[in-house]
Amino acid sequence: MLIFNKKSDLSAFLSPLIKQNKSIGFVPTMGALHQGHLSLLKNSLYENDVTVMSIFVNPTQFNNAEDLDKYPRTLERDVQIMQDLNNNIIVYAPEVADIYEGNTISENFDYDGLENQMEGKHRPGHFDGVGTIVKRLFEIVQPNKAYFGEKDFQQLQIVKKLVLKHNIPVEVIGCPIQREANGLAMSSRNERLSESAREKAAIIYQILNLAKEIFQTNSAEETIKFVEKEFKKHLEFELEYFEIADEATLLPVSEKESNKKYRGFIAIFIENIRLIDNISLN
Ligand code: PAJ
Repeated sequence: MLIFNKKSDLSAFLSPLIKQNKSIGFVPTMGALHQGHLSLLKNSLYENDVTVMSIFVNPTQFNNAEDLDKYPRTLERDVQIMQDLNNNIIVYAPEVADIYEGNTISENFDYDGLENQMEGKHRPGHFDGVGTIVKRLFEIVQPNKAYFGEKDFQQLQIVKKLVLKHNIPVEVIGCPIQREANGLAMSSRNERLSESAREKAAIIYQILNLAKEIFQTNSAEETIKFVEKEFKKHLEFELEYFEIADEATLLPVSEKESNKKYRGFIAIFIENIRLIDNISLN
Protein backbone atom coordinates (compact mmCIF):
# COMPACT_ATOMS: atom_id res chain seq x y z
CA MET A 1 0.00 0.00 0.00
CA LEU A 2 1.28 3.48 -0.85
CA ILE A 3 1.44 6.04 1.95
CA PHE A 4 2.27 9.67 1.20
CA ASN A 5 3.15 12.28 3.82
CA LYS A 6 3.78 15.16 1.44
CA LYS A 7 1.20 16.73 -0.83
CA SER A 8 3.84 17.28 -3.54
CA ASP A 9 4.59 13.53 -3.64
CA LEU A 10 0.90 12.63 -3.69
CA SER A 11 0.21 15.12 -6.51
CA ALA A 12 3.15 13.79 -8.52
CA PHE A 13 1.75 10.27 -8.15
CA LEU A 14 -1.85 11.21 -8.98
CA SER A 15 -1.32 13.64 -11.84
CA PRO A 16 -0.52 11.00 -14.57
CA LEU A 17 -3.55 9.00 -13.41
CA ILE A 18 -5.75 12.09 -13.71
CA LYS A 19 -4.32 12.70 -17.22
CA GLN A 20 -5.24 9.13 -18.15
CA ASN A 21 -8.83 9.97 -17.10
CA LYS A 22 -8.79 7.47 -14.24
CA SER A 23 -11.63 8.25 -11.86
CA ILE A 24 -10.47 9.24 -8.39
CA GLY A 25 -12.57 8.56 -5.29
CA PHE A 26 -11.63 10.32 -2.06
CA VAL A 27 -12.43 9.59 1.59
CA PRO A 28 -11.19 12.26 4.03
CA THR A 29 -10.86 11.11 7.66
CA MET A 30 -9.13 11.91 10.92
CA GLY A 31 -8.15 8.26 11.42
CA ALA A 32 -8.87 5.89 14.31
CA LEU A 33 -10.68 3.94 11.64
CA HIS A 34 -13.85 1.95 12.27
CA GLN A 35 -16.55 0.34 10.15
CA GLY A 36 -18.14 3.75 9.48
CA HIS A 37 -14.99 4.90 7.68
CA LEU A 38 -14.64 1.54 5.94
CA SER A 39 -18.18 1.77 4.55
CA LEU A 40 -17.18 5.01 2.78
CA LEU A 41 -13.99 3.35 1.52
CA LYS A 42 -15.91 0.37 0.14
CA ASN A 43 -18.22 2.69 -1.81
CA SER A 44 -15.24 4.54 -3.24
CA LEU A 45 -13.38 1.34 -4.18
CA TYR A 46 -16.50 0.07 -5.94
CA GLU A 47 -17.19 3.26 -7.91
CA ASN A 48 -13.70 4.51 -8.87
CA ASP A 49 -10.46 3.40 -10.52
CA VAL A 50 -8.34 4.90 -7.73
CA THR A 51 -9.25 5.48 -4.08
CA VAL A 52 -7.41 7.97 -1.86
CA MET A 53 -7.97 8.14 1.89
CA SER A 54 -6.57 10.99 3.96
CA ILE A 55 -5.79 10.63 7.64
CA PHE A 56 -5.26 13.98 9.29
CA VAL A 57 -6.40 15.25 12.68
CA ASN A 58 -7.19 18.78 11.56
CA PRO A 59 -6.33 21.21 14.38
CA THR A 60 -8.37 24.15 13.03
CA GLN A 61 -11.72 22.38 13.39
CA PHE A 62 -11.30 21.70 17.13
CA ASN A 63 -12.64 24.43 19.37
CA ASN A 64 -11.56 22.53 22.46
CA ALA A 65 -7.83 21.99 23.08
CA GLU A 66 -8.39 18.92 25.25
CA ASP A 67 -10.55 17.27 22.57
CA LEU A 68 -7.77 17.84 19.99
CA ASP A 69 -5.12 16.59 22.40
CA LYS A 70 -7.03 13.43 23.30
CA TYR A 71 -8.22 12.63 19.79
CA PRO A 72 -7.05 9.04 19.13
CA ARG A 73 -4.10 8.77 16.74
CA THR A 74 -3.58 5.18 15.61
CA LEU A 75 -1.89 5.42 12.20
CA GLU A 76 -0.16 2.03 12.32
CA ARG A 77 -3.38 0.23 13.18
CA ASP A 78 -5.29 2.25 10.57
CA VAL A 79 -2.82 1.26 7.86
CA GLN A 80 -3.17 -2.41 8.86
CA ILE A 81 -6.99 -2.16 8.70
CA MET A 82 -6.83 -0.66 5.20
CA GLN A 83 -4.29 -3.22 4.05
CA ASP A 84 -6.67 -5.98 5.17
CA LEU A 85 -9.49 -4.34 3.20
CA ASN A 86 -7.65 -3.55 -0.04
CA ASN A 87 -3.97 -3.13 -0.76
CA ASN A 88 -4.58 -0.59 -3.55
CA ILE A 89 -5.84 2.23 -1.33
CA ILE A 90 -3.62 5.32 -1.54
CA VAL A 91 -3.09 6.92 1.86
CA TYR A 92 -2.28 10.56 2.45
CA ALA A 93 -1.22 11.13 6.08
CA PRO A 94 0.41 14.58 6.26
CA GLU A 95 1.92 16.49 9.15
CA VAL A 96 0.25 19.79 10.09
CA ALA A 97 3.04 21.74 8.30
CA ASP A 98 2.33 20.08 4.94
CA ILE A 99 -1.24 21.41 5.02
CA TYR A 100 -0.88 24.71 6.88
CA GLU A 101 2.71 25.73 6.04
CA GLY A 102 3.29 27.43 9.38
CA ASN A 103 -0.02 29.29 9.37
CA THR A 104 -2.42 27.02 11.24
CA ILE A 105 -5.58 29.11 10.99
CA SER A 106 -8.91 28.73 9.24
CA GLU A 107 -10.24 30.66 6.30
CA ASN A 108 -13.74 32.09 6.75
CA PHE A 109 -16.64 30.50 4.91
CA ASP A 110 -20.21 31.49 4.24
CA TYR A 111 -22.45 28.46 3.83
CA ASP A 112 -25.70 30.45 3.47
CA GLY A 113 -26.53 30.02 7.15
CA LEU A 114 -26.03 26.25 7.41
CA GLU A 115 -23.08 27.02 9.69
CA ASN A 116 -25.20 28.89 12.23
CA GLN A 117 -27.23 25.87 13.37
CA MET A 118 -26.51 23.04 15.81
CA GLU A 119 -22.81 22.04 15.61
CA GLY A 120 -21.98 25.50 14.26
CA LYS A 121 -23.73 27.14 17.19
CA HIS A 122 -22.14 24.91 19.81
CA ARG A 123 -18.64 24.62 18.28
CA PRO A 124 -17.70 28.15 17.16
CA GLY A 125 -15.32 28.13 14.19
CA HIS A 126 -15.70 24.38 13.64
CA PHE A 127 -17.10 24.60 10.12
CA ASP A 128 -14.51 27.21 9.07
CA GLY A 129 -11.91 24.60 10.04
CA VAL A 130 -13.75 21.85 8.18
CA GLY A 131 -14.16 24.03 5.07
CA THR A 132 -10.48 24.99 5.16
CA ILE A 133 -9.20 21.42 5.31
CA VAL A 134 -11.75 19.90 2.92
CA LYS A 135 -11.14 22.58 0.27
CA ARG A 136 -7.36 22.12 0.54
CA LEU A 137 -7.65 18.35 0.36
CA PHE A 138 -9.91 18.61 -2.71
CA GLU A 139 -7.28 20.84 -4.36
CA ILE A 140 -4.52 18.33 -3.63
CA VAL A 141 -6.38 15.11 -4.51
CA GLN A 142 -8.65 16.49 -7.29
CA PRO A 143 -11.21 13.70 -6.83
CA ASN A 144 -14.17 13.02 -9.11
CA LYS A 145 -16.19 11.76 -6.16
CA ALA A 146 -15.82 12.33 -2.41
CA TYR A 147 -17.55 10.30 0.29
CA PHE A 148 -18.93 11.67 3.55
CA GLY A 149 -21.01 10.00 6.27
CA GLU A 150 -24.53 11.02 7.27
CA LYS A 151 -23.27 10.55 10.84
CA ASP A 152 -22.09 14.15 10.47
CA PHE A 153 -25.14 15.23 8.51
CA GLN A 154 -24.55 18.96 8.95
CA GLN A 155 -20.95 18.55 7.75
CA LEU A 156 -22.22 16.66 4.67
CA GLN A 157 -24.63 19.49 3.80
CA ILE A 158 -21.90 22.06 4.41
CA VAL A 159 -19.43 20.28 2.12
CA LYS A 160 -22.10 20.12 -0.60
CA LYS A 161 -22.58 23.88 -0.20
CA LEU A 162 -18.80 24.52 -0.20
CA VAL A 163 -18.44 22.67 -3.50
CA LEU A 164 -21.37 24.53 -5.04
CA LYS A 165 -20.24 27.99 -3.94
CA HIS A 166 -16.60 27.48 -4.93
CA ASN A 167 -17.34 25.64 -8.19
CA ILE A 168 -15.23 22.65 -7.16
CA PRO A 169 -15.72 19.87 -9.73
CA VAL A 170 -16.40 16.99 -7.32
CA GLU A 171 -19.52 14.96 -6.65
CA VAL A 172 -20.16 14.76 -2.90
CA ILE A 173 -21.76 11.47 -1.91
CA GLY A 174 -23.53 10.92 1.42
CA CYS A 175 -23.34 7.44 2.98
CA PRO A 176 -25.60 5.95 5.69
CA ILE A 177 -24.67 5.87 9.40
CA GLN A 178 -22.97 2.65 10.53
CA ARG A 179 -23.88 1.54 14.04
CA GLU A 180 -22.52 -0.84 16.64
CA ALA A 181 -24.64 -3.92 17.42
CA ASN A 182 -26.39 -2.02 20.24
CA GLY A 183 -27.29 0.90 17.93
CA LEU A 184 -24.63 3.38 19.06
CA ALA A 185 -23.38 5.32 16.01
CA MET A 186 -19.78 4.31 15.34
CA SER A 187 -17.31 7.06 16.16
CA SER A 188 -13.60 7.38 16.86
CA ARG A 189 -14.60 9.06 20.12
CA ASN A 190 -16.36 5.86 21.28
CA GLU A 191 -12.87 4.47 21.96
CA ARG A 192 -12.54 6.94 24.82
CA LEU A 193 -15.68 5.61 26.57
CA SER A 194 -15.56 3.02 29.35
CA GLU A 195 -17.19 -0.29 28.49
CA SER A 196 -20.16 0.52 30.69
CA ALA A 197 -20.69 3.96 29.10
CA ARG A 198 -20.48 2.40 25.65
CA GLU A 199 -23.28 0.05 26.65
CA LYS A 200 -25.36 2.79 28.25
CA ALA A 201 -24.92 4.97 25.15
CA ALA A 202 -27.15 2.52 23.27
CA ILE A 203 -30.02 4.50 24.73
CA ILE A 204 -29.25 7.45 22.44
CA TYR A 205 -30.43 5.59 19.34
CA GLN A 206 -33.33 4.01 21.25
CA ILE A 207 -34.59 7.46 22.22
CA LEU A 208 -34.05 8.79 18.68
CA ASN A 209 -36.26 5.97 17.39
CA LEU A 210 -38.94 6.76 19.98
CA ALA A 211 -38.74 10.42 18.98
CA LYS A 212 -39.31 9.40 15.38
CA GLU A 213 -42.47 7.54 16.39
CA ILE A 214 -43.73 10.44 18.49
CA PHE A 215 -43.04 12.98 15.74
CA GLN A 216 -45.44 11.17 13.40
CA THR A 217 -48.44 12.34 15.45
CA ASN A 218 -47.03 15.18 17.53
CA SER A 219 -45.40 18.56 17.00
CA ALA A 220 -41.65 19.17 16.94
CA GLU A 221 -41.95 21.00 20.26
CA GLU A 222 -43.67 18.03 21.93
CA THR A 223 -41.12 15.61 20.48
CA ILE A 224 -38.22 17.73 21.75
CA LYS A 225 -39.81 17.91 25.22
CA PHE A 226 -40.11 14.12 25.23
CA VAL A 227 -36.41 13.64 24.41
CA GLU A 228 -35.31 16.18 27.03
CA LYS A 229 -37.46 14.47 29.67
CA GLU A 230 -36.14 11.00 28.79
CA PHE A 231 -32.51 12.06 29.22
CA LYS A 232 -33.30 13.69 32.58
CA LYS A 233 -34.03 10.12 33.78
CA HIS A 234 -30.47 9.10 32.91
CA LEU A 235 -28.15 11.14 35.07
CA GLU A 236 -24.94 9.94 33.43
CA PHE A 237 -25.93 11.88 30.29
CA GLU A 238 -25.80 15.61 29.76
CA LEU A 239 -27.88 16.63 26.77
CA GLU A 240 -26.39 19.56 24.86
CA TYR A 241 -29.15 19.78 22.26
CA PHE A 242 -31.85 17.81 20.54
CA GLU A 243 -33.24 19.66 17.54
CA ILE A 244 -35.61 18.84 14.73
CA ALA A 245 -34.61 20.53 11.50
CA ASP A 246 -35.39 20.68 7.82
CA GLU A 247 -32.81 18.47 6.08
CA ALA A 248 -32.08 21.02 3.35
CA THR A 249 -31.83 24.27 5.32
CA LEU A 250 -31.05 22.76 8.77
CA LEU A 251 -33.43 25.37 10.21
CA PRO A 252 -35.51 24.27 13.21
CA VAL A 253 -39.04 23.15 12.37
CA SER A 254 -41.84 25.45 13.39
CA GLU A 255 -44.82 24.00 11.49
CA LYS A 256 -44.57 20.57 9.89
CA GLU A 257 -45.04 20.60 6.11
CA SER A 258 -45.85 17.42 4.20
CA ASN A 259 -43.42 18.06 1.32
CA LYS A 260 -40.35 18.53 3.55
CA LYS A 261 -37.83 16.09 4.97
CA TYR A 262 -36.98 16.35 8.63
CA ARG A 263 -34.24 14.99 10.84
CA GLY A 264 -33.67 14.84 14.59
CA PHE A 265 -30.15 15.88 15.64
CA ILE A 266 -28.56 15.22 19.01
CA ALA A 267 -25.35 16.15 20.81
CA ILE A 268 -24.85 14.62 24.22
CA PHE A 269 -22.09 14.14 26.78
CA ILE A 270 -21.32 10.95 28.66
CA GLU A 271 -18.11 10.63 30.73
CA ASN A 272 -17.26 14.10 29.40
CA ILE A 273 -17.10 12.74 25.84
CA ARG A 274 -19.29 14.51 23.31
CA LEU A 275 -21.27 12.24 20.99
CA ILE A 276 -23.48 13.24 18.07
CA ASP A 277 -26.10 11.30 16.14
CA ASN A 278 -29.13 11.96 13.95
CA ILE A 279 -32.16 10.20 12.50
CA SER A 280 -34.44 10.75 9.54
CA LEU A 281 -37.96 11.49 10.80
CA ASN A 282 -39.86 10.89 7.54
P1 PAJ B 1 -13.96 11.69 10.83
O1 PAJ B 1 -14.71 11.98 12.08
O2 PAJ B 1 -12.75 10.82 10.90
O3 PAJ B 1 -14.96 11.09 9.79
C1 PAJ B 1 -14.55 10.82 8.47
C2 PAJ B 1 -15.78 10.48 7.65
O4 PAJ B 1 -16.37 9.28 8.18
C3 PAJ B 1 -16.87 11.58 7.74
O5 PAJ B 1 -17.44 11.77 6.47
C4 PAJ B 1 -17.86 10.98 8.73
O6 PAJ B 1 -19.17 11.45 8.57
C5 PAJ B 1 -17.74 9.50 8.38
N1 PAJ B 1 -18.23 8.68 9.50
C6 PAJ B 1 -17.81 8.72 10.79
N2 PAJ B 1 -18.53 7.86 11.55
C7 PAJ B 1 -19.41 7.27 10.70
C8 PAJ B 1 -20.44 6.28 10.87
N3 PAJ B 1 -20.71 5.76 12.06
N4 PAJ B 1 -21.16 5.91 9.78
C9 PAJ B 1 -20.90 6.46 8.55
N5 PAJ B 1 -19.94 7.40 8.34
C10 PAJ B 1 -19.22 7.80 9.39
O7 PAJ B 1 -15.49 14.00 9.69
C11 PAJ B 1 -14.27 14.12 9.81
O8 PAJ B 1 -13.44 13.07 10.17
C12 PAJ B 1 -13.54 15.42 9.53
O9 PAJ B 1 -14.39 16.49 9.86
C13 PAJ B 1 -13.04 15.56 8.07
C14 PAJ B 1 -14.20 15.55 7.06
C15 PAJ B 1 -12.05 14.45 7.74
C16 PAJ B 1 -12.30 16.92 7.91
O10 PAJ B 1 -11.24 17.01 8.80
